[in-house]
Amino acid sequence: MTALENAVAFKDVSKVFRGPREIKAVDNVSFDIKGGTIIGLLGSNGAGKTTLIRMTTTLLSPSSGRIVVAGYDVMGAPEKVREHIGYAGQDTERSLYYRLSPRENAKYFGWLSGLRAETAVERLEHFACQVGMDDRLDQHFITLSGGEKQVFVVLRALLHYPDIVFLDEPSKSLDVLTARRIRGLLKEYRHKHNATVIITSHNLKELEDVCDKLIFIDHGRKVFEGSPEELKRVAFKSESVEVRGGPFEDAIVGELMSLGETVPMREGRELRIVCENPYVTIRQVVNILEAYDVRAIVAMGEPSLEDAFEQIVGRVRDT
Ligand SMILES: Nc1ncnc2c1ncn2[C@@H]1O[C@H](COP(=O)(O)OP(=O)(O)OP(=O)(O)O)[C@@H](O)[C@H]1O
Ligand SMILES: [Mg+2]
Repeated sequence: MTALENAVAFKDVSKVFRGPREIKAVDNVSFDIKGGTIIGLLGSNGAGKTTLIRMTTTLLSPSSGRIVVAGYDVMGAPEKVREHIGYAGQDTERSLYYRLSPRENAKYFGWLSGLRAETAVERLEHFACQVGMDDRLDQHFITLSGGEKQVFVVLRALLHYPDIVFLDEPSKSLDVLTARRIRGLLKEYRHKHNATVIITSHNLKELEDVCDKLIFIDHGRKVFEGSPEELKRVAFKSESVEVRGGPFEDAIVGELMSLGETVPMREGRELRIVCENPYVTIRQVVNILEAYDVRAIVAMGEPSLEDAFEQIVGRVRDT
């Protein structure tokens, strides 16, 4: 199967929750997701990511605007949309039957999507092997550890080979190794099935590793759309040199400050010197450190996605 041209399209989508306090959880959001890509939704707690995903997966209706998934309007043809999607929600505990084992859950959920029991189990076994969880298939879901439960919730979303997969915080509670295996599985799944994968995460390293494109949501609004590299460039327009291994003596900091605007980071353990030409500044930094006989790590500034996140959220909050 070839990838869908436009897997998902959002046009002026808003969601207002009415209650004691009216909350505009999603505020006039528009963007398209190209088929065959892996997209990361990021933003602070309460930014509106889950609400956006729940509307896209037909679990909530938009207050206004239009969402088209695999060519079908989520309001006009929700059952068609559901045929094309896989979804793993943020609430792991309630996503599978807790008195059934992962294998039994696969049979049940596979049956709901029209799969034969053997096919569903075969696929589950294959995925579970890939992430090193094939020895957990016959244990009651409730007795699995938090991370093990999370893995099976993600695997369930892939069983019926959906074209478009929505994963709301897939790496929640996962150790570094398991999270990496899940990322590997998602990348392979995308290639094998020409699928589109949309994930939300607070693990920015994960988003950087797996996503072709990021959508940054703040207060229900889209504040950025582009690659992880573009996000960093938007957050940091200038070149810089980083000096790690502090905190440094006041005298050293004073001299470094004369080289350009110097920003202390990570409680002074790191200094970022904003400069015009990092090649020149690096030499000057090394000379200063050498004069004080101090060993430190000196490098061209490479902002992390974490820094970019802080910058953008801070900037939006200040305006
Ligand atoms: N059913 C609901 N009724 C009322 N308000 C809601 C409801 N669901 C979400 N909200 C509110 O909408 C806003 C967006 O919530 P949402 O769950 O989409 O955020 P999120 O970006 O997924 O956050 P997190 O990273 O913490 O998961 C929050 O202010 C939340 O309190
Ligand atoms: Mg959420």
